[in-house]
Amino acid sequence: MDLLDKFDSTVALRDSLPFEKADPFKVVMEEIISETEAVIDGRHTILAGTNNYMGMTFNEEAVAAAKEALDNFGTGTTGSRVLNGTYGGHKALEATIAEFYGMEHCMVFSTGYQANLGMISALGGKDDFVIIDADSHASIYDGCSMGNATIVRFRHNDVENMERRLKRLPEDAGKLLVVEGIYSMLGDAAPLKELLEVAKKYGCMTLVDEAHSMGFCGENGRGIAEQLGVEHLVDFYVGTFSKSVGTVGGFAVSSHPKFDVLRLVSRPYIFTASLPPSVVASATKSIEAIKRSGNRRAHLWENARRLHAGLKKAGFHLATPDAQSPIIAVHLPDPMLGTRFWEQLLLEGVYANMAAPPATPSGVFLMRVSVCAQHTTEQIDEIITRFNRTAEKVGLALNP
Ligand SMILES: Cc1ncc(COP(=O)(O)O)c(C=O)c1O
Repeated sequence: MDLLDKFDSTVALRDSLPFEKADPFKVVMEEIISETEAVIDGRHTILAGTNNYMGMTFNEEAVAAAKEALDNFGTGTTGSRVLNGTYGGHKALEATIAEFYGMEHCMVFSTGYQANLGMISALGGKDDFVIIDADSHASIYDGCSMGNATIVRFRHNDVENMERRLKRLPEDAGKLLVVEGIYSMLGDAAPLKELLEVAKKYGCMTLVDEAHSMGFCGENGRGIAEQLGVEHLVDFYVGTFSKSVGTVGGFAVSSHPKFDVLRLVSRPYIFTASLPPSVVASATKSIEAIKRSGNRRAHLWENARRLHAGLKKAGFHLATPDAQSPIIAVHLPDPMLGTRFWEQLLLEGVYANMAAPPATPSGVFLMRVSVCAQHTTEQIDEIITRFNRTAEKVGLALNP
């Protein structure tokens, strides 16, 4: 028995998609010209499908700090955070993040994925309950699978549905609500105030994953909880450096007095190598810069609103009624048309993400477009023009 046979249907599905000149699974960024432009297949392309929301990948201070750390500390730590893998830079980064969130403690993980694995699996013990949104990111689901708690799912962003489920749980049991600030596929915001208030009414501790809301939501860019004035209801935040921060890594913050014990029990924190000093140095500089980046935040929101309004006016079917984040998701009716649309858009010189189940909720097929604070107004208008041209070329019906 060939153990790879079980994936034959996946291969068949991939092979059935009508790609002719480009394949979304084989895109290579041949040259990165700037935060918003690259060369793909020899073609100058506008990037409209990255998570580089705040355009921090070329932040001068972050780049300089990384180079200096590389010279001074080498290319990697070659060890776990709990052995030889904690350098002064890791501690400085944790202090920077704790201060940014106005909380007492921070743990830096090697990715955001591992931060969710590490937090949820450690917090959710045998007799506990972890309550999650049905559209949660894979890292939240995987954190649940790794832990021993009972998982309770509620309908996406549905406060009433969540309350109905909470009512049925034993009053004295340990409970953790895990939600995201912004959902990465549809770009919709969670009704965080209502969710957190109900969770607290039923004695839940709360964890908010601000992966796609850190940087531009809230006056200081801390995320949706800051934007909605509900930070006092959050026990733990999880975040990532792979989006607005512009590098790689993850973190969890909290003011819980016992938080530090997680360093001794969280397996995804312990059993992996720590981040290289250069990454840690650039993440620190980038977060410091994000704090001061009010103008960038404002421009990012202008870009998001302009793109949403332009695509809506053209008659595209959008996932949200307004721009709730820099992620603007465009519904496409079926995988065949979606595939042709994605490919033609790339030939027009715009890269967006083709998103399909199981990454998308409810089996929908999406063109996930995301904007960057460094996109110019002209680039946003150009993306809209090329979307229109693509729709015409592939025969996508629009409803202006
Ligand atoms: C909501 C959410 N949490 C966590 C992660 C994981 O982040 P990382 O890329 O740092 O592993 C992602 C990544 O897409 C995400 O969307």
